[in-house]
Amino acid sequence: MKSLFGLAGKRIMVIGGGQGMGEATARLLASLGCSVAVLDLELERAQRVAAACRAHDVSAVPFGVDVTDDDALVATIARVEHEFGALDGMATIVGMAAWSPIVEMTTETWDLDHKRNLRYFFLAAREVAKRLLARQAPGSLVCVASVDGIVSAPYHASYGAAKAGLINLVKTMAFEWSGRGIRINAVAPGGIVTPRIPFGGDKERESMAGLPMGRRGTVDDIAKAAAFFLSDLSPYVTGQTLAVDGGYVGTGIFSRKPPDVAPGGTMGMDKR
Ligand SMILES: NC(=O)c1ccc[n+]([C@@H]2O[C@H](COP(=O)([O-])OP(=O)(O)OC[C@H]3O[C@@H](n4cnc5c(N)ncnc54)[C@H](O)[C@@H]3O)[C@@H](O)[C@H]2O)c1
Repeated sequence: MKSLFGLAGKRIMVIGGGQGMGEATARLLASLGCSVAVLDLELERAQRVAAACRAHDVSAVPFGVDVTDDDALVATIARVEHEFGALDGMATIVGMAAWSPIVEMTTETWDLDHKRNLRYFFLAAREVAKRLLARQAPGSLVCVASVDGIVSAPYHASYGAAKAGLINLVKTMAFEWSGRGIRINAVAPGGIVTPRIPFGGDKERESMAGLPMGRRGTVDDIAKAAAFFLSDLSPYVTGQTLAVDGGYVGTGIFSRKPPDVAPGGTMGMDKR
């Protein structure tokens, strides 16, 4: 299994690896023999995840950083390469939405969502790619976008626009870097159960009933998609965004009940 992924012995930095999708990604990479640098705003979270990763007999080093601080982010990536080792790839997980109708949205809110979803990714990808290009080394980068960057994002427009920017930036980075052996892709989650947005019981079951798969996904669903892009399972794939969303974007159907298909395929019409 490990040789199928080709991740054994690789070094990957997971930004926002302290819980949820980031933790699941770091743990999955470690289980595939990959060493991980776990970056998070909350150093204790990064320390806990790094310790769990080391149980797989790989190197795992925690780093504390606030990705919305440009200088700190750039300096931390330099530290990661110095203290952890030359990177083969990166996964960026950090992202969050502010909720407000557009007519009430302030420029501060707009800028905050762009900083914590789009701007930091531009900086981190630039810093990692610069080093890979200087070493003439191949690499793979993956970011977490959102289905809200593919469809509309009512009442969280600043987030949707930032995630759409991420999806476009991935395409441009793929164009500029793929000739030099660097692949870059995005995972776009739909509704996912996370420590920040836990399962909502019966109310959630009801609201998810119109989704083709009828439920929210798990953090492991996102980790598996990220590992696919980082691994040798996707050697000819770059510039893509994969929606991991229970069928939401692919079918374009939400809140519509499936047709009532009667035996014999009459779609609910009376047989007379
Ligand atoms: N949960 C969903 O349903 C859903 C849907 C679509 C997209 N997403 C995207 O998935 C990603 C993860 O979302 P989540 O809610 O699971 O994440 P989360 O809020 O649990 O955060 C993940 C980690 O990032 C760290 N972090 C937060 N701000 C940081 C900062 N400024 N600097 C460094 N680290 C920071 C947190 O401490 C945490 O450990 C985001 O990009 C989000 O936009 C989530």
